[in-house]
Amino acid sequence: MNDLEAQLTDLKQVAQDEIARAAALDDLEQLRVAYLGKKGRLSKVLGGMGKLAAADRPRIGALANTVKDVLQTDLEKRKTTLQAAQIEAQLAAETLDVTMPGVFTAQGRIHPINSITDQIVDIFLGLGYTVAQGPEIETDYYNFEALNFLADHPARDMQDTLYLPDGNLMRTHTSNVQIRYMKEHEPPMRVVAAGRCYRRDTVDATHAAVFHQVEFFAVDQGLTFTDLKGTIKVFLERLFGETEVRFRPSYFPFTEPSAEVDVKWQGRWLEILGCGMIDPNVLKAVGYDPEVYTGFAAGLGVERLAMVQNQIDDIRRLYSSDLRFLNQF
Ligand code: DAH
Repeated sequence: MNDLEAQLTDLKQVAQDEIARAAALDDLEQLRVAYLGKKGRLSKVLGGMGKLAAADRPRIGALANTVKDVLQTDLEKRKTTLQAAQIEAQLAAETLDVTMPGVFTAQGRIHPINSITDQIVDIFLGLGYTVAQGPEIETDYYNFEALNFLADHPARDMQDTLYLPDGNLMRTHTSNVQIRYMKEHEPPMRVVAAGRCYRRDTVDATHAAVFHQVEFFAVDQGLTFTDLKGTIKVFLERLFGETEVRFRPSYFPFTEPSAEVDVKWQGRWLEILGCGMIDPNVLKAVGYDPEVYTGFAAGLGVERLAMVQNQIDDIRRLYSSDLRFLNQF
């Protein structure tokens, strides 16, 4: 056997052993460079080919190619094995135990007042209404005068209305939005407005000094009380499903005729809104001709509706910030 032949066979044996024992992909790469690289051991052995007799060259050259092929194949195979092992190890390390108990994260909730306000406004949006807003600090004109309250109307009394030192007041209802909106727009219109209102009411189980209303109103030619009743019926059905509803004649300075609407709650009638046909004096105050246009309007107490919807018996709970209470919603 030729010396080079022996070297090649030996190199093949040693290299195969080392490749088989390589424990990491990095080690394998180092072996590839050491044996098959440009300056690797195989090249070195082949450097001696020049001194061979011409008759030996083809045989030894073929052997060298075989050694190279065998080592390449071994390297590939070992690489595949090591890669698979690496993935296995990674999978084992990152195993997800889906039966482990979760970690509690505190989450905010929508307050019942905001939730029902959104539902109400959504119903009116569905009926083609436009959303409007008005200021909570208001002048006597928009809160009372333009709404046909006489100068000595009891609602203006200090007992009811919160006045500010500058003569302005905290709006006592969302009806101010009627005046502000109608002055800025021409009929026909259908408008819904939600917001906070303020009164110095005695605070008891069903009244609070700050409360929320939703106002809705429509002005067009030929609107009648029937349109108002139908609108309220559809609205209450969408909000509560089937509930018993009753209309009672009532009085408001800004509507004529006027009514109050009650729903049956826990066996008794609970007043939830006031409504009526917009008084001709109000239409005149905003520059509309009452001979051409009629309108209807209503104001709802949001707290009452939230109480009915969620079976809450004391209005003050809604503002208590008691998480045991609020977390139920
Ligand atoms: N503004 C009235 C209140 O606060 C509620 C109300 C009654 C509004 C009749 C209206 C209405 O628009 O037509 O008690």
